[in-house]
Amino acid sequence: MFDVEAFVSEAEGVIKDTARGRTVIGASGGVDSTVAAAVAHGALGDLLVPVFVDTGYMRKNEARDVKAIFDSIGADLLVVDASERFFEALEGVTEPERKRKVIGELFIRVFEEEATRTDAEYLIQGTIAPDWIESGGHLRDVIKSHHNVGGLPERFGLKLIEPLRDLYKDEVRQVARYLKLPVSERQPFPGPGLAIRIMGEATPEATEIVRKACHIVETELDAAADRGEMTRPWQYFAVLTPVRTVGVQGDVRAYGYTVAVRAVESVDGMSAAYSKVPHDVLERISVRITNYMPAKVNRVVYDITHKPPGTIEWE
Ligand code: XMP
Repeated sequence: MFDVEAFVSEAEGVIKDTARGRTVIGASGGVDSTVAAAVAHGALGDLLVPVFVDTGYMRKNEARDVKAIFDSIGADLLVVDASERFFEALEGVTEPERKRKVIGELFIRVFEEEATRTDAEYLIQGTIAPDWIESGGHLRDVIKSHHNVGGLPERFGLKLIEPLRDLYKDEVRQVARYLKLPVSERQPFPGPGLAIRIMGEATPEATEIVRKACHIVETELDAAADRGEMTRPWQYFAVLTPVRTVGVQGDVRAYGYTVAVRAVESVDGMSAAYSKVPHDVLERISVRITNYMPAKVNRVVYDITHKPPGTIEWE
């Protein structure tokens, strides 16, 4: 049985004993890093410098939402716009594991720069158990090298602290609820962001399309859940595929891309079942996506694959 109170006080103690100076944390606004930041802020107060790196692969309004979350903890969020650097680094990169490595490495570089600027010695990461287990933590083959593990360069200039290393997602959520963080019911969002929801090269243009499509999926499913038409899935988003199909726009032939909608039920992300989203809701999503960008996207499909054999993300 997981004892939340004991975990928080022990983790705070460990952080206090380990970090003896300024400490940076990558504040993505995700459940894991926000919980890690809140625990670290409890231990270190203003010695903690939460850094939000805008990689360009963020969801709509992400920076604004994350700032509000950190305001509620009483921590001052530093926002760094590094989107141009990330887009440039991913030019021509199509292979999923390579994307993770490139993004993970650049993330660390940006932290190093911010750490140097703020005189930090330590880096806190919100790594949780499935991250390192699925990244080949000696227990399994590498499924995906989750970027906050597999992407770490061999040498980097900061000492690493991972207070959530032994926790699973449901336990992290319990900590979030205990600390009254406004993220406990936020859906997970992968570190590499929208870059791994674009099959192939994650160009700025493709990112705009998938960002809009993800926003439509999120808002429609949230609204349907609020109206009581369905329960909110564990995770839900859109994927931009390179598959082009023939369609009609007005009375002219179109040849646009296919967007896949994914919604899953899960407890900890280790396994998942596809969500049985009502057809009315799927229809609204499909109509909105194709109305928004008919010349670019003219087909929407729904992913009905469990994990295993699929994974939750497509890359
Ligand atoms: P998969 O796709 O492996 O995803 O079934 C399981 C959960 O992990 C998230 N995910 C990631 N999180 N870095 C992260 O921080 C990553 O590289 C990464 N890849 C997947 C995914 O969104 C799901 O919640």
